[in-house]
Amino acid sequence: MTIAENFSAFRIHDDQAGYRSGIESISLDDLNPGEVVIRTAWSSVNFKDALAGTGQGKILRRFPLVGGIDVAGHVVASTDKAFKEGDPVLVTGSGLSETRDGGYAGYARLDSRWVIPMPSGLDLRESMILGTAGFTAALALYRMLENRQTPAHGPLAVTGATGGVGSLAVDIFSSAGFEVHAISGKADQADYLKSIGASQVLGREALASTRPMESVRFGGGLDNVGGGMLASLLAQTAPYGNVASAGLVAGHDLPATVMPFIIRGVSLLGVASAGTARSVRDDIWRHLADDWKPAHLETICTREITLEGLPGVFNGMLSGASFGRTLVRIG
Ligand SMILES: NC(=O)c1ccc[n+]([C@@H]2O[C@H](COP(=O)([O-])OP(=O)(O)OC[C@H]3O[C@@H](n4cnc5c(N)ncnc54)[C@H](OP(=O)(O)O)[C@@H]3O)[C@@H](O)[C@H]2O)c1
Repeated sequence: MTIAENFSAFRIHDDQAGYRSGIESISLDDLNPGEVVIRTAWSSVNFKDALAGTGQGKILRRFPLVGGIDVAGHVVASTDKAFKEGDPVLVTGSGLSETRDGGYAGYARLDSRWVIPMPSGLDLRESMILGTAGFTAALALYRMLENRQTPAHGPLAVTGATGGVGSLAVDIFSSAGFEVHAISGKADQADYLKSIGASQVLGREALASTRPMESVRFGGGLDNVGGGMLASLLAQTAPYGNVASAGLVAGHDLPATVMPFIIRGVSLLGVASAGTARSVRDDIWRHLADDWKPAHLETICTREITLEGLPGVFNGMLSGASFGRTLVRIG
């Protein structure tokens, strides 16, 4: 397969001219080394991409880099015999747009250790509707199940429910047999949340209490928000229930007490998708292509853009206004 000499990339710089990002024409030689070259078909937009693309968060650890923490496409060349031309593959996290060039470009040159052969049951587009968001929601479920969460503990709360991670968590948790209570600041999206699997939609005030302990309301849950909402979720979690912490859209503080841990045996589980071990990564993608495959992927994919549309999406996302997942069509 011939590789185009030049192609478009959404690149992020931080140098004497300041922090900036935008579309440039680059060649394969501009990309970091790697064993597997793919022609990019799809990427997606995650909160981390919005932070990186605007400079509102310290995500990149070297500059310049192509943005985009997710990528899916077909292999065009590989020095690793595990991959051959034409193979459909994906990568999420694993240093993309952090220490390595990411998915917002016509081609990506990847470290073969992190390249996932497309599992049967998913196509390239579906894999990027999931992307880091779906992987993170599934990793949260994986960790909760490892720690013996069952539907009998009670409903799972999902905060930031209309967001990318939130929407996919609502769908995945309900597919896995849990009752899901979606916590959202967008009352007008209650029908959307019910259509993807929420049995109840609660406003953010459901997690506004600042008391160290509250009556039990949830079996556990996934928090995308941080701060007081996470503390309140812990205080309302059933004995031996699990709360997975994935996000910090409202802040990185945790104004909690030890009471839920020592009185109810509640567990607080960390979810760090970017650095997940390869063996766990493979397990999660197998689940996402099979028994945990969300039933409402097309409903959750609320927007499809090209590289030119990225800046507009970043700003909406950082203001908390966006909902669902945004796909980036590249190929
Ligand atoms: N740990 C990991 O591995 C990992 C992986 C992926 C993402 N994350 C983190 O998870 C979070 C969500 O990511 P995402 O890609 O799903 O982002 P997103 O699509 O922008 O969703 C965030 C959602 O959070 C809610 N929200 C926004 N501002 C809020 C505020 N001030 N207070 C309470 N809720 C607020 C909104 O939902 P409602 O309007 O419905 O409330 C919003 O849609 C981010 O912090 C991201 O960095 C972590």
